[in-house]
Amino acid sequence: MTATIVSPRLMRIGGGSVGQIAEVLGLFGLSRPLVVTDPWMLSSGTVDRCLDPLRAAGLDPAVFAETVPDPTDTVIEAGVAAFRAGDYDCLIGFGGGSPMDTAKAIAIPAAAAPGQKMREFKVPAQADKAACPVICIPTTAGTGSEATRFTVITDTETDEKMLIAGLGALPLAAIVDYELTYSVPQRTTADTGIDSLTHALEAYVSKRANPHADSLALSAMRLIGRHLRIAYHQPKNAAAREAMMLGAMQAGLAFSNSSVALVHGMSRPIGAHFHVPHGLSNAMLLPAVTEFGLNDALPRYAEAARAIGVATIEDADQVAGSKLLEELRALNQELGVPTPRGHGIGAAQWEGMLPLMAKQALGSGSPANNPRVPDEAQIIALYRKVYG
Ligand SMILES: [Fe+2]
Repeated sequence: MTATIVSPRLMRIGGGSVGQIAEVLGLFGLSRPLVVTDPWMLSSGTVDRCLDPLRAAGLDPAVFAETVPDPTDTVIEAGVAAFRAGDYDCLIGFGGGSPMDTAKAIAIPAAAAPGQKMREFKVPAQADKAACPVICIPTTAGTGSEATRFTVITDTETDEKMLIAGLGALPLAAIVDYELTYSVPQRTTADTGIDSLTHALEAYVSKRANPHADSLALSAMRLIGRHLRIAYHQPKNAAAREAMMLGAMQAGLAFSNSSVALVHGMSRPIGAHFHVPHGLSNAMLLPAVTEFGLNDALPRYAEAARAIGVATIEDADQVAGSKLLEELRALNQELGVPTPRGHGIGAAQWEGMLPLMAKQALGSGSPANNPRVPDEAQIIALYRKVYG
């Protein structure tokens, strides 16, 4: 068996590294960036952390700030038009997962003939071409999008969250500066942190796991398992924020080179139809989906429990697996994760969407990587189980 490993050509990691953005562009001979961000990053002045050093270096960055949560194909079309209207040589995605995914997605249709729709690039298609290099600067810890070959875009005609995969979505460079995460709201710290943990755990138990991705996933679980609660309760704790940022990036590298699995497959339709933030819908599913597959990859789940720090080498796999389930439930409780019912989704609405959600979950391909591959009825049963 062979494994193909991809990652950004350059990752600059550390407190204050965003101040070196112009130098990083210079290494690649880039000088005409279009910065992709969201309206809050713009109005709060956070994006100046990226724009100021670019201007200080004599560059004249343009800004596209129309990114929305759960980025849509229509926003990507607007971004492609903005990109084509100027003489840009790179895109910079600055923000959480949505601005980074938007920047990565803009580069893909921008490389194709005008008029091509985003859905033409969704899996199983390969999106390997980008119109220009993309540099990502995450402000959350995080989706890991700065290090992955994936972007997720919602099709506004079908409400489907489409997975787009390929070298075209892989950033050229990432600037990973944990100091940007100090002001992240507590809810977002929790949701994005559990998203990172899910990336690492799913990459590790995936049928597509490989030794290189394993080492990244285990490292990510060690970091996130020990620091997520601290970052949640103490937002200014530098050591916790730094560990979470590194963990989120490593988790991104892990699943980019392995895969996500059933949690993500079932999570995307919840986000698409009920507008639950991505990390939160993962968190709602994580304990029940882990329990569903536990005995089909028990040694792996047990090793994950040891990496996270809730089981020891003395614990037999079955014991470690039980401790992992306990920990995932306890984490949801401590981090205030509601059930879908608790989040305000009506029972009839939920029930009515389940057949379509199950079809879309299976259609994404992610459930096929799970240690235990469910059919449609089993997915519906899991959705019912987590509803609350
Ligand atoms: Fe995710």
